Amino acid sequence: MDNGSDEVAWRFGAANPALEAASALSIRALVHRLYGCVDRSNPRPLAPLGHGDPSPFACFRAAAAAEEAVAAAATSGKCNSYPTAAGLTEACSAVAAYLSRYLPYELSRGDIVLTAGCNHAIEIMMAVLATPSANVLLPRPGYPLYEARAALGGLEFRHYNLLPEKGWEVDIEGVEALADNNTVAIVTVNPNNPCGSVYSYEHLAKIAETAKKLGIMVISDEIYEHCAFGSKPFVPMGVFGEIAPVVTLGGISKRWMVPGWRLGWIAMTDPKGVLRKKKVKLDMSYFDGIGDDIDFCTKLAKEESVVICPGKTNNHKHFTCLICCGLFNEITHQWKSWNFLENKRDGDFF
Ligand SMILES: Cc1ncc(COP(=O)(O)O)c(C=O)c1O
Repeated sequence: MDNGSDEVAWRFGAANPALEAASALSIRALVHRLYGCVDRSNPRPLAPLGHGDPSPFACFRAAAAAEEAVAAAATSGKCNSYPTAAGLTEACSAVAAYLSRYLPYELSRGDIVLTAGCNHAIEIMMAVLATPSANVLLPRPGYPLYEARAALGGLEFRHYNLLPEKGWEVDIEGVEALADNNTVAIVTVNPNNPCGSVYSYEHLAKIAETAKKLGIMVISDEIYEHCAFGSKPFVPMGVFGEIAPVVTLGGISKRWMVPGWRLGWIAMTDPKGVLRKKKVKLDMSYFDGIGDDIDFCTKLAKEESVVICPGKTNNHKHFTCLICCGLFNEITHQWKSWNFLENKRDGDFF
């Protein structure tokens, strides 16, 4: 409304402490600030040792075949449309085939979501996990985007230590002490930034066993995959996907030396399908007046605004399919407050 004065009471722009905390954690902003401090008139050559980007150095060139393929795709006119939300199906298939080379099972294109770099994959995962009261375990020292994005989404994070005296391995006992019933995931970075360590097969197996014990998923940041030198080869965490579900985050920035191309991925390296869905058998003796799983799901949707998929839809009467196990725990904690259930005996209905 024009009140006749030049003063406008803009309604936006209030301080957002989470956003400020997130920006304070940006490595790139800090490094740019440090570059800004360099006296360019100083005749000594700059020693750029704080670089996370190999591409400005002439000795690290992207493969000519990759450059040509991208140029051909750009000029073909075939890649200008919106792709599906998960990314171009051919590209998802290519990433699935690439990752499967190092796994004891095959991924399919449906296991892959393409992102605008691994940072975007981190942002998505921290947002997906940010359900009320959930917490995530992050490594210290670590890559600060995890903290920044968790803070922005209201996801609690807790730090476990990497142990310098043990080659920066995960403090497994510390992880167990830190986790509680609201812990949903542990993040690992392997090969590690900032420590440069590469975890052994045995240590990764221990992390997976710990995740299984705690009932949590492993988010394995493998943006530096195969950047492993010397006697310790890189082993993908997905190798242990049978033990605990693993969400692998990766991309082409580091290994292919093209961080500006902004291509990353989220891969469900979860051969048992734990992350996809959890089937739960309903104990119908708890449900007076409720005919079957469809009736149950209908009432749940109508009265509690909770939508889960009845098992009958895939010929599994009296089961429900749940897409997110964390949410399932939230939902079932509240079941005694559901009005449409008349008979609330002790125990659980599933
Ligand atoms: C541990 C870690 N994850 C993710 C990234 C970001 O990867 P991208 O360039 O693909 O966004 C970096 C970049 O430095 C990193 O160190």
